[in-house]
Amino acid sequence: MERVVTERLFFALWPDAAARAALQACMPRRTRGTGRPTPEEKLHLTVLFLGRTTPEARRCVESAAGTVHCRPFTMQFTRIGYFPRSRVLWAGMAEVPETLVALHEALRSAARSCGCEVETRAYSPHITLLRDAPGRFPAPEAVEIPWHVRDFALVASRTSAGGARYDTLRTWPLQ
Ligand code: 2AM
Repeated sequence: MERVVTERLFFALWPDAAARAALQACMPRRTRGTGRPTPEEKLHLTVLFLGRTTPEARRCVESAAGTVHCRPFTMQFTRIGYFPRSRVLWAGMAEVPETLVALHEALRSAARSCGCEVETRAYSPHITLLRDAPGRFPAPEAVEIPWHVRDFALVASRTSAGGARYDTLRTWPLQ
């Protein structure tokens, strides 16, 4: 039987240079030198995680993504929080823009129609800043980081000698 090679894919937003630098700089001082910080060039927001995807499903998803209509929008990252179970320190928003939720929903329904088994868990938009974060971070910290979203991307998570590598496969403008 022919072996189908799958790839670990997700839709993501890449920050512009200003947002990326601000996110990199917003790590709480007490976390310096701990855990595994996300390198600046890897900071991203996952819009939809697809997981292992066949070439056929990828073609279908790419074609469906091209039909998604969504206006450019601005997000305000306003807090630093902590997921205790995964020990992840993240940046997130007190108010999630409706447009982001609409983009997530549109891509999710496109992916489902292509046969992808997407998560049914509620969408919880966040940017992972630090993995293996030590201890607990009980008080969310306030930040103010605007991010102007102009496009979204299909990204492959691939393993390389230096750990996970994110390769942007294709980008679609919001318009
Ligand atoms: P994380 O940063 O919270 O780990 C590539 O791995 C991207 O997909 C990351 O943004 C990661 O989120 C997200 N991701 C990984 N596994 C996932 C899963 N099972 N469900 C949802 N998102 C996932």
